[in-house]
Amino acid sequence: MNLLAIETSCDDTAAAVLVDGAVRSSIVASQDAVHHVYGGVVPELASRSHMRALTPTIERALGDAGLSLAAIDAVAATYGPGLVGSLLVGLCAAKGIAYARRVPFIGVNHLEGHLLSVQLDRPVAFPYVALLASGGHTSLYLARALGDYALLGSTRDDAAGEAFDKVAKLLGLGYPGGRVIDDLARRGDAAAIRFPRARLKPSGGSHRFDFSFSGIKTAVALHLREHGADPARHADVAASFQEAAIDMLLDTAFAAARSVGVDRLVVAGGVSANSRLRERAVAAAADVGLEVVIPAPRYCTDNAAMIGLVAAYRLARGERDDLTLNAAAVADLDAPRPNEPAPQ
Ligand code: KG4
Ligand code: ZN
Repeated sequence: MNLLAIETSCDDTAAAVLVDGAVRSSIVASQDAVHHVYGGVVPELASRSHMRALTPTIERALGDAGLSLAAIDAVAATYGPGLVGSLLVGLCAAKGIAYARRVPFIGVNHLEGHLLSVQLDRPVAFPYVALLASGGHTSLYLARALGDYALLGSTRDDAAGEAFDKVAKLLGLGYPGGRVIDDLARRGDAAAIRFPRARLKPSGGSHRFDFSFSGIKTAVALHLREHGADPARHADVAASFQEAAIDMLLDTAFAAARSVGVDRLVVAGGVSANSRLRERAVAAAADVGLEVVIPAPRYCTDNAAMIGLVAAYRLARGERDDLTLNAAAVADLDAPRPNEPAPQ
């Protein structure tokens, strides 16, 4: 089974080829250079860039896998959540290829891709609690089985990755901020500034574990206003902010895993590429009695391999999607798929 997968939910144009569920190629064409000067993703520029980059990206993925389009047996694409203009580019391309080549089409939820991305490196047994921390989402799920996910909590305001991006912008480091903060923090003192850690009381039942990242962003802004934005102190600010953000993520994830009685924690999404988060999650695992599993960094940030993996599982179960599947800006894992009405 040769599967082509496409991911264009935000600002990375990605395509991958999976053969019998194993990744043969995975190409990610970054748009960082397009959005860098704006300090965030500009949706209109993102969809235009996807239009330009998608065909060459698919061609590279096919070329690296040593396959032609004629050898593809199924096509998958992310249908949501994400920027609708961006999603439509990948989704329409996938549906077009499936229609023209008369092969099955599968629409994949981007969040499910992140939740299962860890399985690209090695099989990880269910159940596990998954901390999904990216630029658009920060949530905790109980993954009971393939396709069976319960939301345990989510951010009440900013996503963790968004906080990294906003702090990077405050420090004049451009977009995206996660990796730059990660690098800069290595040279700083994480104990230099004590930024507040928001700890939300479980609400709406004891199994609810929410996050809040807007306070720490404001705290960094206030600190820079009060103490002046001295570039010599930027590494300390980055390290202190990063340490606080990691405390909030890990404390809440560990508490959630304890509360549902699951001893395996998966950390996924763009922020899980953070070197300090990875180091601390693994170091704390033994103390808190958890097995912590984190995908390889290339599978933490957006990629099409994770979309292909979900599609491969669903195809193996005999599932298919209709070509009426539409793009959706908001797409909870338990929400029905957004199909367009059939033409009359
Ligand atoms: O999963 P992802 O690629 O896209 C979304 O679905 O949002 O996540 C992107 C986010 C950005 O906010 C980026 O700053 C953050 O992940 N990120 C990081 C690191 N690499 C990417 N945050 C902290 N440390 C990193 N090394
Ligand atoms: Zn993502």
